[in-house]
Amino acid sequence: MKRFAALVLALSLLDPLLPPFLPLSWGNVEAVSWEPEPWPGLDAERTEEPASLAPQMVPGLVAQRIHNTNTNIDARFLTVSGSKELNDSTLKLIWEAVSLQEEASGVNYMPQAHARGAGLNDRGCQEGETTRSQKEIRTADGTSVVCDIVFARGAILGQRLRVLQIVDGSVTKDHAVTLYTDTEENKNYLASEIWQESAYSYVWDSLLEVLKRDEGALSLSLTTGTPDVEVLQNVLENTVIGEDNELIVTFAAGTKTPELASLGIEEIDDSVSISLPESSVANLLTDFGHTLLDTAANDVPLGLANFTWPGNAYVDCKLLPCLAMTYDDGPSQLTPGILDAYAEYEGSATFFVLGSLVESHSDVLLRAHEEGHVIANHSWSHEDLTSLKPERVASEINQTNTAVFDVIGVVPNSFRPPYGAVNEKVLEIAKMPAILWDVDTNDWQKPAEGELINRVVDDAKVGSIVLQHDIHQNTANTVWEVLEILRGRGFTLVNVEQLFGGEVPQSGLYRRAD
Ligand code: NI
Repeated sequence: MKRFAALVLALSLLDPLLPPFLPLSWGNVEAVSWEPEPWPGLDAERTEEPASLAPQMVPGLVAQRIHNTNTNIDARFLTVSGSKELNDSTLKLIWEAVSLQEEASGVNYMPQAHARGAGLNDRGCQEGETTRSQKEIRTADGTSVVCDIVFARGAILGQRLRVLQIVDGSVTKDHAVTLYTDTEENKNYLASEIWQESAYSYVWDSLLEVLKRDEGALSLSLTTGTPDVEVLQNVLENTVIGEDNELIVTFAAGTKTPELASLGIEEIDDSVSISLPESSVANLLTDFGHTLLDTAANDVPLGLANFTWPGNAYVDCKLLPCLAMTYDDGPSQLTPGILDAYAEYEGSATFFVLGSLVESHSDVLLRAHEEGHVIANHSWSHEDLTSLKPERVASEINQTNTAVFDVIGVVPNSFRPPYGAVNEKVLEIAKMPAILWDVDTNDWQKPAEGELINRVVDDAKVGSIVLQHDIHQNTANTVWEVLEILRGRGFTLVNVEQLFGGEVPQSGLYRRAD
């Protein structure tokens, strides 16, 4: 049988015009009744490299952007709102790129914000970015991370991230990986986790087979090889699901292995994509692989499970340039408009409220809390706490805590003393950290709106805490433009808990985060 197959192959190489299946009566070969054994590789077909999906933003999907000229790294990526675990794989990959670039540049990474007009409102993935040529992604020294959406069905997002590093004009890293985030199961998967290990030989042999057919060879003799695990790992890490629920794997241009060389292929000129029908790979998939295919088949548009507001999401302020906007002396009838702006700009803020106003504005307080903003304590009646007797200080703080708890069910865990007036005694009685500010916009002076905007956006630095008041009309009027400009400078707008790494410190006095 072997000899027969070898003969057929030899003939086919001599004459590519031979019909694809030789008549079984051909010649005087003993194996006339031979039929090709069913071999799964026959189902593999060469296909187009799948296009990425148009960027689509759904509630809970957060577009990120890093532009860092010190360490020389740019990154675009998507996170999903929610737990830290849900974005672990993505953030790990970004941090790996950062570390790599720190080594190359010799400059430690620090989140960086930029001058007005830096254009960093444009965040997240750009369609087709991960399949562009190296030169289209980056030409200068440094590292770029770009992303594409490759899967957006049901509760699962598939994102391909490509890291390209150039050192001294030469490409030192160019690696893409596709991550699937199942927001229902609250888990991340590398695309290679679609496959069981037993799939390796199958996918590898399919490549050899497809390439052989490309060379004009007949396929009655099926190639079986020994997978080049390193090559294959990279390939499987970028598995995507095609329109007909087939699995598509792509071998990059330049792929070369001794095995391909023995087929007469020194290296692949252009990338080679192979489609593998679901039916022939079903027993090679993991549970997640089946979940992904089922999700694809259901054809329900992307809708992330467990949506959380930005203020409730994990934000890595060591990676992103965070800034905390704070609003004092409310809540007021102006607060809802400010909340609208934060919802639009995917940001979170902190509201230091007066206990005496809480009950009459309980609706807006509850809304602010439910939309992920932090509600903190600004005393009951806005007295200078350092001038009050200890019992009075305690009641100013505690009454406010109680009033807030009665509305939102959470006790404030930080306070801002009125006028910023605080001493050891007040801190001791409050039993909470005092959060002051490093950028005072003096909005109570009622400056012209343009002037007020300048005060906020020009003085804000990474880690800053900005003081405004949600009781002044000009503050409410300018918040939209302020947030637009701050995001354009690259800032991520966070509340004070996020600013301090997820929770405020236990005690002490803070003007900014360092
Ligand atoms: Ni105040």
